Amino acid sequence: MSKGVFIGIDVGTSGVKTVAIDITGKMIGSHTEPLEMITPKPGWTEQNPDDWWLATKQSLKLVNKELSLQGKFEILSISLSGQMHSLVMLDKNDIPIRNAILWNDGRTHEECIYITEKIGVELGKITGNPPLEGFTAPKILWVRNQEPSLFKKIHSILLPKDYIRFMLTGQKFTEPTDASGTLLYDINANKWSDSLCGKLDIDASFLPEIVKSDEIAGYLKSDIASEIGFKKDIPIVAGAADNACASLGAGVIESGSLMITVGTSGAVVAPCDTPLVDPKLRIHLMRHVLQNTWYQMGVVLSAGATLNWWDSVSGENGLETLLSQVSFNANSNDEILFLPYLTGERTPHANPKARGVFFGLHTGTTRGDLTRAVLQGVALALRDSLELMTNKNRFFDEAVIVGGGAKSSKWKKLISDTLQVPLKVTGPGEGAPLGASMLAASTSKDNFSDLEEVVNNWVHTLGTTEPDTGKSEYYSDLHKKYKNLYDSIVSEFP
Ligand code: XUL
Repeated sequence: MSKGVFIGIDVGTSGVKTVAIDITGKMIGSHTEPLEMITPKPGWTEQNPDDWWLATKQSLKLVNKELSLQGKFEILSISLSGQMHSLVMLDKNDIPIRNAILWNDGRTHEECIYITEKIGVELGKITGNPPLEGFTAPKILWVRNQEPSLFKKIHSILLPKDYIRFMLTGQKFTEPTDASGTLLYDINANKWSDSLCGKLDIDASFLPEIVKSDEIAGYLKSDIASEIGFKKDIPIVAGAADNACASLGAGVIESGSLMITVGTSGAVVAPCDTPLVDPKLRIHLMRHVLQNTWYQMGVVLSAGATLNWWDSVSGENGLETLLSQVSFNANSNDEILFLPYLTGERTPHANPKARGVFFGLHTGTTRGDLTRAVLQGVALALRDSLELMTNKNRFFDEAVIVGGGAKSSKWKKLISDTLQVPLKVTGPGEGAPLGASMLAASTSKDNFSDLEEVVNNWVHTLGTTEPDTGKSEYYSDLHKKYKNLYDSIVSEFP
């Protein structure tokens, strides 16, 4: 008899990752197909949606092969997660008009100013977010301003995972967690905002229908099924934004829980059961996967990305060698500061013009010291976000850490010390694609009554890294120095 499995696909920035999980929550197969980012100009980032699609098909084929080597499995359903905000524009034949403009692209500063002038405070009230370069609406306006001939061809607009779901099923949808990152979505009413589309003169008919994250949103097309070796008509569940899915995969869906991700970007995610808008809009507000739930999020644009950059410019010895050279006994006198703002920064600065900075170098500084500074800089940037979510009525006893950064015990310890929060690692692990597979599983009514049952059955704690509480003062001083450094040079960024 064949065993049932669920597939989760994450359309990430550094790769498309596919996992296959059985009904007990055990990982049966996994493959990551790498992707490159295109940087046409400093601060601009793009990817070709066709590359996501080729990588998706390849990763599905390879996971299928892995499954077939282990016995007889039946794929019961598939779901997706993906990088948020990135703009995919299709023409009337559903062909991408240009490369997708990505979430970490900073070219839309003028358009953000325009949105502020046109909409003012209403934007925060409707969307829960400020006009940020990385979000989708300013990208649409940029194409209208800078590439009018391409703009005229737009027939529909999708987000990355929604484009891949469209390629799998032939149907266009989005869902609340990804709609939240567009600046065209009413986060209270759960619908596209006619008022925002009207004021920005964006044709709302370009935007896909919004369904629930855990709703079946089409079935695998037969031509694709035969190309990748799957059976046709497998249900494809809507899915969710990568941070929402990572948080689901970590079991972080209830108010009071907290997740830290350290992937290409970093994020601090705090679910809430009312739409908690930060009065100064310094942290994002997004819909979460369960109906009528939300999460606050602070975003560090370059987290794992800074370590990869540092490896590439400092000798390409690989991350393992790099991490082995780090000394973790630094004291405050020779701590090198690093601002990890390689592609600008979102939280708390909302400044696409910020850039990376090393500070405090001396003749004795080693590569290991600089590597430590890079790891420390990302941890301090995460502390910036956590600080905005914490007050005397709201604090967090622990967090779940996910993403590539969670795999390094040194980095995990440094983050735990810097945040002064115990960091749990949960199984079955794998972050966003796991969350996507859980959304797929939740529609299998023979096995689960709802999403919460999947979370309860699958997610378990593997271990906890405790912070060194004796260093609490040291890290609050270091954080002050880190913030002062930014404040004292911010006017010098071009
Ligand atoms: C969130 C954000 C990033 C991307 C990374 O607002 O921009 O975390 O989702 O994939």
